[in-house]
Amino acid sequence: MPNASPVIRILFVCTGNICRSPTAEGVFRHLVEQEGLTGLFEIHSAGTDSYHAGQTPDRRAVKIAKKHGVDIGHQKARALRSTDYDAYDYIFAMDGGHFHELKERAPGKYRAKVDMFLSAATHLDKQEVPDPWYGNDKDFEDVFTLVFEGSNALLKKIREDHKL
Ligand code: 4NP
Repeated sequence: MPNASPVIRILFVCTGNICRSPTAEGVFRHLVEQEGLTGLFEIHSAGTDSYHAGQTPDRRAVKIAKKHGVDIGHQKARALRSTDYDAYDYIFAMDGGHFHELKERAPGKYRAKVDMFLSAATHLDKQEVPDPWYGNDKDFEDVFTLVFEGSNALLKKIREDHKL
């Protein structure tokens, strides 16, 4: 079929890839499915660190996502790879630390692919999704709320930019 839309490849990045970025991967994929756009996106996540590589997401993140109808329990953490910069169209940092590390590790021509996850959520007064690792269920709820708001805003912006 001529003029089929190319697949848009998105990578969400946090530290361990067991709390914030797997939640973003699951929520964004869920929204894409709800909007009937599944074939048009490839959505993954990774960590700047490899400590938790191979693990499923933190059980608190899994529990709260499930409560909101999003299943992230099957995902497996992996570390960021240098090849990710070429493989993805958008690389979203969950907080400022990830943003700076992603920019620093990027080969020059790929630096522009890196942006803050909440950059499209201009209605929020927040720029970062805080690390919930040492927190409680409320912190994980707050992460989910921010990730949900951010993902909705991001999908809307990407749909506008790509005329989808
Ligand atoms: P995440 O949370 O980056 O949202 O997956 C963290 C998970 C583990 C650690 C830090 C943050 N850690 O230091 O092990």
